[in-house]
Formats: sequence, structure tokens, C-alpha cells
Amino acid sequence: MISIRLAPLAGVTDWPFRQLCFEQGCDCAYTEMVSAMGYFFMPREHHATVSLLTRAPGEKKLILQIFGKEPEVMARAAKALGETGRYDGIDINMGCPVHKVAASGEGSGLMRTPDVAVEVMRQVVKASPLPVSVKMRLGWDERSINVVELARAAEDCGVSEITVHGRTRMQQYAGKADWEWIGRVKQAVKIPVIGNGDIYTADDAMKKLEMSGVDGLMIARGAMGNPWLFHQIRERLNGREAVLPTLREKIETCFRHYDLLLNWKPQEIAVKEMRKHIGWYVYGARGAAQLRDRVNQIDDPVQVRSVLEEFVEISEQRE
Ligand SMILES: Cc1cc2nc3c(=O)[nH]c(=O)nc-3n(C[C@H](O)[C@H](O)[C@H](O)COP(=O)(O)O)c2cc1C
Repeated sequence: MISIRLAPLAGVTDWPFRQLCFEQGCDCAYTEMVSAMGYFFMPREHHATVSLLTRAPGEKKLILQIFGKEPEVMARAAKALGETGRYDGIDINMGCPVHKVAASGEGSGLMRTPDVAVEVMRQVVKASPLPVSVKMRLGWDERSINVVELARAAEDCGVSEITVHGRTRMQQYAGKADWEWIGRVKQAVKIPVIGNGDIYTADDAMKKLEMSGVDGLMIARGAMGNPWLFHQIRERLNGREAVLPTLREKIETCFRHYDLLLNWKPQEIAVKEMRKHIGWYVYGARGAAQLRDRVNQIDDPVQVRSVLEEFVEISEQRE
């Protein structure tokens, strides 16, 4: 069965959001990336650390993603975090393009130093009590595409599966993800390959699956404000038409999302974090930009709720 997954998304894929995606048929999710070095230096009760490492009861398959470049530190983190019994796998980040991370040789920076990347994979696999996967890009830039070589090396190191985001580091998020390259990786290794990049609709999923023959699809930006995408893709895979949610359904899910966050985090943090999610839930609706501006100025969640209610009612009256 094709695995449909929620990508790691720093600042987005905390457990409340993952929960909503799981409810819609997501098979497997990843935590936001966690610095291996930071894990050892940050106090355990530090709010940000707790937030990144939480697994809620009822979450289906959850893979913890770590980043770093020192093989020993990565291995120690994989062992310590793997032994918590909280996760189903450990994923190595070889794709993060953010300057601070990549320029220091971590994330996608590892693809520029393949020897270090191989040593990281080797030591993490050896130390981890859980299966180890790797998420990579095509390479650093278009002149140094080395995803096939690194995927083969990962397989030799005992990595259990690979995710490929079909862009180079230098592309960041520009241009289109190249699913032909993803297909080449699928041909080159025996372990499962998960394809990632530019899946926003069930149609996109079907086309990219056909083009690459991958074992699974990973969705990142397409899921933001749209956890229904997982269900829509599964429906299409089963030969049924995907049904789109109404604005009211979106707002009701948004309220549930809000409640999950408010019950978990201090109110001022929950309110700030929900602002971006609200923007994504209403994306494309008439008046969404004005609504976003309004919501961004309100600190009281009860008031936010009534503004959203009013927004749906006005939209429904227009129909
Ligand atoms: C806001 C944001 C945060 C991200 N955080 C991570 C991360 O923590 N780890 C990671 O491997 N990739 C991260 N990514 C990359 C995505 O997982 C994914 O590879 C990329 O967005 C391409 O997929 P898409 O076209 O479906 O968005 C992030 C991307 C975005 C936009």
C-alpha cells in the first residue's frame, strides 16, 4: 500500500496538527527537526524542547527527525531519543536549506560533504534502537547532484528508507520539484523511497506517483490548513473521487485545532501560533486577506472565534 505521509515542518507539525492529519488518513508523520547538539545542551523541561519531543496518545506512526553533523553526537541523540520508546523511527535531516544550518555543514550541508554524511548515517544506524531513515534533496546545486550516490550509500549503511525532496539546496523552495530524479533514486535502491515536493491536490499525487513509481508520498506545504488532502489522496488511490471540505468544515476543524493548542500551550503562545494556521485554513476564500489582518490583531481566542464564525456566516449568505 502506498504510504501517505506528513513531512517534518519546523513551526508547523506539532502534535495537534499531526493529530488532525492522522484523523484524515495520514499514515505516518515526522516531528519538527530537533538539533542533536541542542538536545544535549537544552534543559529537558525547556518549553521548546518539550514541544518538539511530545508524542500525543493515539498518534499513529511517528518518526523523530534529528539534524547535526557530528557523527558521535547524532548517534548519541538517536540512541537516547530512540530509547524513550516514544517514536517509531529516527530520521536524519539532509535537506534543510536554511543558511544557518546548511552553511555550517548540517541539513542539506551534509550533501556537500558526502564522507561526513556517510559517517553520520553509519554511526546513527549502529547506535539507534529504531529503524533509521534519511530525508535528502537532489544535491547542493544543479552541478553537484549526488542523490543517487548518497541513496546507495545510505542503503549500504543499513538505512531502512529514504525520502527525496526533488530540489537542490540552492533552489530552496523555488522552481519545481523534479520527480524524474526521484524516480531515478527509486530505480537505484531496493529500500523504500518516499517522494516529496509540490503535492497540493490528489491529482498532483497521482501524477507524481505515476512518474516516479515511489513507495510513498510525503506532503509538506500542501497539508498546511488542509489536513483533508490525506483523505483525498487515499480516496483517489482507491478509485474514488476526492471530496473537498466546505468553508464551514474548515473553520470547525480550525476551532478544534485551536482548542488542542489552547489546552496544551500558554494562551499567548497558542494565540500567536494559531494565526498562521488560520491564514492557511481560509486561504483562497473571499475576504481571506482582510480576515487574516483582523485576526492578527486580536489576542483573545474567544473573540477570534466569533470573528471566524461571522466570516463563515457572511460567506454562506453569499452562496
Ligand atoms: C515552514 C517549513 C518548515 C520545514 N521544516 C522542515 C524540517 O524541520 N525538516 C525537514 O526535513 N524539512 C523541512 N521542511 C521541508 C519540507 O519537509 C519539504 O521537504 C518541502 O517543503 C517540500 O515539500 P512540499 O513541496 O510538499 O512543501 C520545511 C519546509 C517548510 C516550508
